[in-house]
Amino acid sequence: MLTLAVSKGRIFEEALPLLAAAGVVPTVDPDKSRKLIIPTNREDVQLLIVRASDVPTYVEYGAADLGIAGKDALLEYGPEGLYEPLDLNIARCRLMTAAPVGGIASRRRLRVATKYVRTAQGYFARRGIQADIIKLYGSMELAPLVGLADCIVDLVDTGNTLRANGLEPRELIMEISSRLVVNKAAMKMKHRAVCAIVDLLGQAVARQGMHSE
Ligand code: ATP
Ligand code: PRP
Repeated sequence: MLTLAVSKGRIFEEALPLLAAAGVVPTVDPDKSRKLIIPTNREDVQLLIVRASDVPTYVEYGAADLGIAGKDALLEYGPEGLYEPLDLNIARCRLMTAAPVGGIASRRRLRVATKYVRTAQGYFARRGIQADIIKLYGSMELAPLVGLADCIVDLVDTGNTLRANGLEPRELIMEISSRLVVNKAAMKMKHRAVCAIVDLLGQAVARQGMHSE
């Protein structure tokens, strides 16, 4: 049995065509079901529905052999415990700093609100900027509006969320897309089955790339 951890919503939707091209079709729509273990058309493949930021944990500990996770979640989790063989080129966006339009009016140490604490710490440290990082779990765009922080580190796609809240993108930290990750032991113990899926997904990604050119 191969187990693949994936989050509901955006990543699941965009992964579906790739999984289908790799011959894996879920038999239940996780948005319409409360089931967290989803069978597929293949008796030897099942999906686990987990929070986006929990995918690396399930895969590192071997509760899932494979996973699909945003690069943002992987950066925050750390690179040690997983293989990352494939960029799936889905759920593309940018991890950026953003601040109120017109500039940061602050005399104190820079205060940064984000759910990406580790990534933000690394980013500001590399730039020699002393920053206090404030951990939030969502609605980061609110923090500068109410004086909780001077700026934020968050994902930006269309920029609509920033604009709607009087913020503007500043510096690009990293281009983000979702990656296929593999448990290190599974890569050894289930080598053939894992490599077959990696190859099929890789071919599907290449075909999608050709169609979108
Ligand atoms: P969690 O449930 O773990 O807190 P989340 O609520 O951020 O995660 P989603 O909003 O489904 O979960 O985002 C999952 C992933 O999709 C993110 O980790 C990121 O890689 C990508 N993503 C998030 N927002 C966007 C966006 N606006 N455009 C494109 N991709 C995005
Ligand atoms: C993500 C991200 C930003 C927004 C950026 O939120 O946290 O708030 O998308 O996209 P935009 O630039 O196109 O506006 P999401 O829509 O996933 O909502 P949530 O994470 O707060 O549930």
